[in-house]
Amino acid sequence: MTELTGKTIVLGVSGGIAAYKAAELTRLLIKAGARVHVVMTENGARFVTPTTFQALSGNPVWTEAWDERRANNMSHIDLTRAADALLIAPATANILAKLANGLADDLLSTLTLARDCPLLVAPAMNRQMWSNPATQRNVAQLKTDGVRIIGPDAGEQACGEVGEGRMSEPADIVEALISFLQLKPLAGKTVLMTAGPTYEPIDPVRGITNISSGKMGYALARALVHAGAQVQLVSGPVALAAPQGVERIGVQSAREMQQAVMLRVAQADIFIGVAAVADYRVANVAADKIKKTGDTLTLELTRNPDILAEVASLPAAPFCVGFAAESQNLDAYASGKLTAKRLKLVVGNLVQDGMGGDTNQVVLYDAEGAHPLPRASKTDVAAGIVAHLARMLG
Ligand code: PMT
Repeated sequence: MTELTGKTIVLGVSGGIAAYKAAELTRLLIKAGARVHVVMTENGARFVTPTTFQALSGNPVWTEAWDERRANNMSHIDLTRAADALLIAPATANILAKLANGLADDLLSTLTLARDCPLLVAPAMNRQMWSNPATQRNVAQLKTDGVRIIGPDAGEQACGEVGEGRMSEPADIVEALISFLQLKPLAGKTVLMTAGPTYEPIDPVRGITNISSGKMGYALARALVHAGAQVQLVSGPVALAAPQGVERIGVQSAREMQQAVMLRVAQADIFIGVAAVADYRVANVAADKIKKTGDTLTLELTRNPDILAEVASLPAAPFCVGFAAESQNLDAYASGKLTAKRLKLVVGNLVQDGMGGDTNQVVLYDAEGAHPLPRASKTDVAAGIVAHLARMLG
């Protein structure tokens, strides 16, 4: 993941036990390509030493408003001037109260007041402190002021109590930050999509499926959310977690997928079929496990519905995007699907390039012709598809 390449993030660490998670957060921000400057409150530095953050970020850590390392002694102004975002994680009840009221009595609160970049905070505190009306008032005020609040999560707390107030996991905070920093060309659009394989039962313990991992579809769902879309993902059985902000509807067979899609399609502006849907299913699924009897066994297969074709032929069809997985003649087969299924866009890939793995190489086919994208991670390919889609819709 290098989606923060070229971005500068100022990470504020205030004094809560979750400060130890800020070390992992720093590592993930660096891994995503960001430049990170850490600012700690005095109490934050009691939980984890500045040396830890210096080693992880590769930059000096700032703790004092009066710091002679800055010739002009203006760290409270300088630090955020080149920053794309100020992220405070963990954000204690105390720092939230200070920010909501414009107090500036240490470096972190002063530079927050003096910033000219967006502010995101990941609260972390005991559940009673979080639900206290004073904290809730401060959080409401910060939201009104345009501050993005990430979390908190619910669960077991460091104090032994259980409830809402745990800092969100570092990976979720990075994900929220990446999404926050992206342009939103698809804001207001609702996308319904399919991903993964389908599973067509033969008997209660056996079935027919394929090697689609769901990675391409899930990466696309994530990129669509980052671009501002509302995403509903009808997914066949895969071993992936739903991306942040995506509503996932789990299904097994092609007919279940069809039902889930048709139930929701009237609300969709865009439909995208990434799923590798089985074209055939077993005609007579056995109620009991099939026993070994002869040397051969014949299964009778019957055609499954073509979900994409059905959606595209609706009288008020959404903007339809199909995928085409071919093992040869990609240009001919994929562009053929554009007209045969009456689609606006087809994403063509060779199965040997795209199925199962982490990378893909696709060609986009629309009324203007073929647009090849370079081989890249599915994350980057998904971003390329979304950029093309946004241009077509814009
Ligand atoms: O999941 P991964 O491992 O990441 O792999 C990604 C992928 C290779 C599965 C993906 O990139 C891809 O190409 N998906 C489409 C696979 C496919 O089934 O292609 P197709 O040519 O058979 O179908 C054409 C289109 O019709 C697809 O949009 C498909 O979702 C749709 N379809 C097909 C059959 C059917 N019964 N109903 C459908 O909706």
